[in-house]
Amino acid sequence: MASEKSKILIIGGTGYIGKFLVAASARAGHRTFALVRDTAPSDPSKAQLLQSFTDSGVTLLKGDVYDHESLVRSIKVVDVVISAVGYAQLADQIKIVAAIKEAGNVKRFLPSEFGNDVDRSRAVEPAKTVYSIKVQIRRAIEAEGIPYTYVSSNFFAGIFLPRLGQPGAIVLPTEKVVIFGDGNTKAIFLHEEDISTFTIRAVDDPRTLNKILYLRPADNILSQNELISLWEKKTGKSFERVYIPEPDVLKQIQDSPMPVNVRMSICHSVYIKGDHTNFEIEPSFGIEATKLYPDVRYTSVEEYLNRLL
Ligand SMILES: NC(=O)c1ccc[n+]([C@@H]2O[C@H](COP(=O)([O-])OP(=O)(O)OC[C@H]3O[C@@H](n4cnc5c(N)ncnc54)[C@H](OP(=O)(O)O)[C@@H]3O)[C@@H](O)[C@H]2O)c1
Repeated sequence: MASEKSKILIIGGTGYIGKFLVAASARAGHRTFALVRDTAPSDPSKAQLLQSFTDSGVTLLKGDVYDHESLVRSIKVVDVVISAVGYAQLADQIKIVAAIKEAGNVKRFLPSEFGNDVDRSRAVEPAKTVYSIKVQIRRAIEAEGIPYTYVSSNFFAGIFLPRLGQPGAIVLPTEKVVIFGDGNTKAIFLHEEDISTFTIRAVDDPRTLNKILYLRPADNILSQNELISLWEKKTGKSFERVYIPEPDVLKQIQDSPMPVNVRMSICHSVYIKGDHTNFEIEPSFGIEATKLYPDVRYTSVEEYLNRLL
């Protein structure tokens, strides 16, 4: 019954992944609250987004990560807190941890993760530092005894598939495709809507309590070579594959400005180190989403590519 579902607060709900989480929470029948800094933004697209929230029954709560009282007040209204704050606020999630501790009522906290499993990453700088911030937040949550789920969703399809997985590119290739390494390491691509559906399913599930929820749908685990071949088959075109060996990748990362170097070092960790797929999920620390929720009809990479044709 809808009334038995947890009430969910999303912090960062107006962000890239946050808006999908807000929509998924409302769609699943949770009473949904979005902490927003500005409830009447002058930016028309932001205003439209907030209108779409309220149209789907979401309650807007005015607040800010840097306003402790607003955090505690908002957190007290709900059972579950999901943070989807971006890069600049990752470390300041320590303030959310403090507010959850003070409020004392939260049944589950999902910090802003939604990527690699940061405890099992072999990223080089500067991604290494970004991941170490997420690790510090994990340890702070555990030290405070706050019930948690960490969502390791791997790559956002909307960011990586429209550039055929290429590090740095912004559009689909027309002739050449740049590949970090030999192109044979498997990566995982998830549609943002599916990331959010799985995340919301997990919030009330005892099986995901104090665990990492890994999103590894079988149809979405592909090497860059496989991804390119699939696209070639669909378009009837063939692309020149430009392979960049690891030493050159590391040099490119060092020579690139922020935030390009962050993106490149994340791609290095996935395409060369294999950080999406190079470890087994042990029941002691994690569980895979499609095994828990086989009824979720997720978008496969192939279906996603069909939409790009
Ligand atoms: N796996 C992948 O491929 C991938 C790709 C990108 C990101 N990620 C991860 O996804 C997570 C979210 O990133 P994102 O790119 O979706 O974030 P984003 O688009 O930058 O959104 C940030 C959100 O935080 C809010 N915010 C900023 N400062 C705040 C404050 N002081 N108080 C309250 N809210 C504040 C923003 O609100 P305003 O609207 O008011 O600015 C916005 O809603 C991160 O952990 C990131 O590492 C993963």
